[in-house]
Amino acid sequence: MSKVYVFDHPLIQHKLTYIRDKNTGTKQFRELVEEVAMLMAYEITRDLPLEEITVETPIMEAKMNVIAGKKLGVVPILRAGLGMVDGILNLIPNAKVGHIGLYRDPETLQPVEYYCKLPTDVEERDLIAVDPMLATGGSAAAAIGFMKQRGAKSIKLMCLIAAPEGIKVVQEAHPDVDIYVAAVDECLNDHGYITPGLGDAGDRLFGTK
Ligand code: URA
Repeated sequence: MSKVYVFDHPLIQHKLTYIRDKNTGTKQFRELVEEVAMLMAYEITRDLPLEEITVETPIMEAKMNVIAGKKLGVVPILRAGLGMVDGILNLIPNAKVGHIGLYRDPETLQPVEYYCKLPTDVEERDLIAVDPMLATGGSAAAAIGFMKQRGAKSIKLMCLIAAPEGIKVVQEAHPDVDIYVAAVDECLNDHGYITPGLGDAGDRLFGTK
């Protein structure tokens, strides 16, 4: 069974509270989501391997650590996942970015892929799938499935807020995919919104509604 990590850093929790606030406008919402994504990227990369190189300081030659050529990729699930990409790239500017778009078939209610473009060397990369809200888990589980179909071998899922229902669905479908969140909320309401949540992440990011 995969693990769920809740990033309880005070800065993440503080910013998440203002992201949740319905009085936070689009501009500030977008900035805060980017900042939290950056802070979460800092935490999620904690286990990146290091290697020693030699540098010359103004004083002497010394052996020091740098990140060991790990190939990373970020895969936002459209559209709300886009709001987390720039924050992650602030810290990992060389990461490649893939995109996955899904819609729910109104008859079968199954997620259908309408767009998928991943880095060509997807099987060699450590991928972080991002979506601010892990609600029913249907889209995230399907997106991860599509990534695996294209050869992805190492996937983490990073969300701002998760519902217990969504965590269960992803863990059952993908026991190899660890989940990283800033909060696990109470439940989904009758309309599929995470409660207390933050509302519709895509609408709040892009000012649509
Ligand atoms: N998607 C959202 O944007 N918000 C929710 O609460 C659930 C799914």
